Amino acid sequence: MKLLTCFVCSFFILSMSPILSQTNYEESKVPSFEVPDPLLTFSGYKINSAKNWEKVRRPELLRFFENDIYGKIPKSLKIDSYTILEQDNNVLNGKAKRKQVELTFKNNGKTLSYTILLYLPKNKVKAPVFLGYNFYGNHTITEDKAVIISSAWANNNESFGIKNNTLTEESRGKRTNRWAVEKILDAGYGLATIYYGEVDPDKNDFSDGIHSLLYQQGQNQPKPAEWGSIAAWSWGMVRALDYFEKDPDIDASKVIAFGHSRLGKTSLWAGATDKRFAGVISNNSGCGGAALSKRKFGETISVINERFPHWFCDNFNQYGDHEEALPVDQHQLLALIAPRPLYVASAEEDQWADPRGEFLSAHYATQVYNLYGKKGIETMEMPKVNEPIHNTVSYHIRTGKHDVTDYDWENYIKWANTFVK
Ligand code: GCU
Repeated sequence: MKLLTCFVCSFFILSMSPILSQTNYEESKVPSFEVPDPLLTFSGYKINSAKNWEKVRRPELLRFFENDIYGKIPKSLKIDSYTILEQDNNVLNGKAKRKQVELTFKNNGKTLSYTILLYLPKNKVKAPVFLGYNFYGNHTITEDKAVIISSAWANNNESFGIKNNTLTEESRGKRTNRWAVEKILDAGYGLATIYYGEVDPDKNDFSDGIHSLLYQQGQNQPKPAEWGSIAAWSWGMVRALDYFEKDPDIDASKVIAFGHSRLGKTSLWAGATDKRFAGVISNNSGCGGAALSKRKFGETISVINERFPHWFCDNFNQYGDHEEALPVDQHQLLALIAPRPLYVASAEEDQWADPRGEFLSAHYATQVYNLYGKKGIETMEMPKVNEPIHNTVSYHIRTGKHDVTDYDWENYIKWANTFVK
């Protein structure tokens, strides 16, 4: 078995080697580049008020990220119906209410449904909520036997017992380490989570998921400026927020979009596109998320587009190995969230996601927060590991690898208590 694992590992490393050998992990090899000024319009006009930011600069940046990076949603689609599949007002040792709510969408003769798992503090009238996707099904975030197993397509994963692209009982509770449910509830927040594969299966195939409901006649994949999977997943978070506005147990004005890694890219885009999100958390989101693309450190645009061709819109391909041609960078995505609270978090061993690029991005976004009189990451000096900076824009780098830990959640809760609640 050991031998086999080694063989599999070395095969994986060898097959990855062209990418790995090109990957830059040296600060001295970061090319010199110009950081696009968030406050200078594409036509050279300097923005100096929050009003002009909102009127002129924010819309043009949003349009650029829409057309050239994440892709536009072809048209709006509302919730057709929602069903409370299950509810118990006394779970987790009396701490919480649990609800499993299915949202259904219909168009083009097709139907798509996805299920939100909600744990809400039992004795709270309207709870603020952290909303975030999970990678392997709602039943992985808890040992709770009542959580329904999704029948949506999933990436095979031996250690999670996922075979034939089907989620199974074997993975119940396998990801409890990433979801500090009790800490969240004890702090007076609810947690809402969705299996991302129900909104759009994470594969380079646009025949399924939400995309297929919005095609024009004869279309079978998004046009070059139309949405990839990240925009589709963000859309799913936005529609969940529509539902929260109807749920009397939730304070929809206090919903924080949370996401890890590809789902952190997703929470950032959701927060940028919908101002109703009260705050946004990017946990180790890296390339195409919080990290600056122009630094070319760790994962790069060409590599991400090659390995995950379905995540971004096709227009994004033109910037692979041509980062200098990009008139924007990811700090401007972060700035689109201003003045709402934003938390960018990195991990020391997650060099692939470029922690320094994530930090600098939060720093460069701060000037937009300053227009609103809000504090962010004012310094260009990275804090030491496990020494968070908490302001409206917050940042930490913790010890350890690419992951979500209790340390991360403890800090998100502290920040939310001060800046969101
Ligand atoms: C890969 C990918 C990253 C992504 C990560 C994840 O490592 O290269 O961009 O963030 O997967 O989502 O786990």
